[in-house]
Amino acid sequence: MFKPSFSKRSDIVSRPGGEVWAVSDRARERADAGDDIIFLCVGDPNFDTPEPILDYVRARLGVGRTHYSPAAGEPVLRSAIAAIETRVSPHPCSADDVIIFPGGTNAIYSVLSCLLDPGDKLVIPEPMYIGYVGIVDALQLQVQPAAFSAAENFRFDIEVIKAAITDETRAVMINTPGNPSGAMATPEQLRELAAYCRERGIWLISDEVYSMITFARRHTTLRAAAEHLDNIVVIDGLSKSHAMSGWRLGWAVAEGPLAERLADFGGATIFGCPQFIQDAAAFALEFDRYFVEEMRSAYEARRDLVVQRVNRIPGIRCEAPEAGMFVMVDISQVADSSLAFAEELLDATGVSVLPGEAFGPGAARHVRVTLATSEIELSRALDRIEAFLSVRASGAA
Ligand SMILES: Cc1ncc(COP(=O)(O)O)c(C=O)c1O
Repeated sequence: MFKPSFSKRSDIVSRPGGEVWAVSDRARERADAGDDIIFLCVGDPNFDTPEPILDYVRARLGVGRTHYSPAAGEPVLRSAIAAIETRVSPHPCSADDVIIFPGGTNAIYSVLSCLLDPGDKLVIPEPMYIGYVGIVDALQLQVQPAAFSAAENFRFDIEVIKAAITDETRAVMINTPGNPSGAMATPEQLRELAAYCRERGIWLISDEVYSMITFARRHTTLRAAAEHLDNIVVIDGLSKSHAMSGWRLGWAVAEGPLAERLADFGGATIFGCPQFIQDAAAFALEFDRYFVEEMRSAYEARRDLVVQRVNRIPGIRCEAPEAGMFVMVDISQVADSSLAFAEELLDATGVSVLPGEAFGPGAARHVRVTLATSEIELSRALDRIEAFLSVRASGAA
């Protein structure tokens, strides 16, 4: 009799999601059963892909752009990204430095695969995007967490990163603007961190998928800030900025030998992304002026609404994030555990938020609220949260 046995790697990535996901799984089950659930736990933009991009992709399908593509990506897209990188940076960027992947997640997986071996140590700041966990586990990397301070609203702090680096650290992976915190690194911090890593022979990877959703100031990419480019890699994509999460389109920008490795790795494991999607991505990047700004300002209005409303509700508070799609709400005055709070909130109100525990122990007294939903839904959710906390405070719950 055949008894299926699987690799350790697949065992690792097949683990159940754990308690933090149980809350949103339960919310989904209740919604499927017909309950009025408001999902404030999602990271998927609620905007449809802008119409001109849809028209363009239909046209490209119509002219037969349905064949294999070069492993590193279509020249038209690589050149469009290189032109943007050149515009925003003192360092010119060549199309050869840009490698296309099916989404930022795969770009991160590929970059880490090319840079690190099982057992290698990698510094990642916390709170940390949950999606990194599966990747670093699958690659059997050892994460050295660098915990940003909850009391300082998780601001990007390079002293904390430096303190986490040891002689064994092979790479540092930062996320600016950050998920879930919305904190942004300054150009000076990026420059200093890149130089610090370079002196120690360490790679610095920067995940910048929220680069176009900023409120306080414009994003500066690591590539523009760093003096030398040989130890750095920047990852970005269209999922968030262009509301194109389902198109699965991301990229990495790296110099010389690493770019070649990434192209070879992509060739071996993906064998190219769809031509029509890459054509549409190049089109989207060229003609995105209006709709990217429209979405960005919608996120800003939602952020302002959430921040104002939350700070008027006794017991909870939040700071305005500088960027990104989320607000971290401090629930420490009303609960000891964000997990228990998220469960109680879902049971009592049908509002689903993500417990901060998901992003690391430092965020265990926060819950993450998404801005990827309409102002009407956000207001409805905040009405329910306000009523819930008021009843709870009066002891009538
Ligand atoms: C910080 C961060 N990096 C990467 C990703 C993955 O993006 P993609 O859709 O391009 O795979 C996400 C998605 O939520 C994210 O929040």
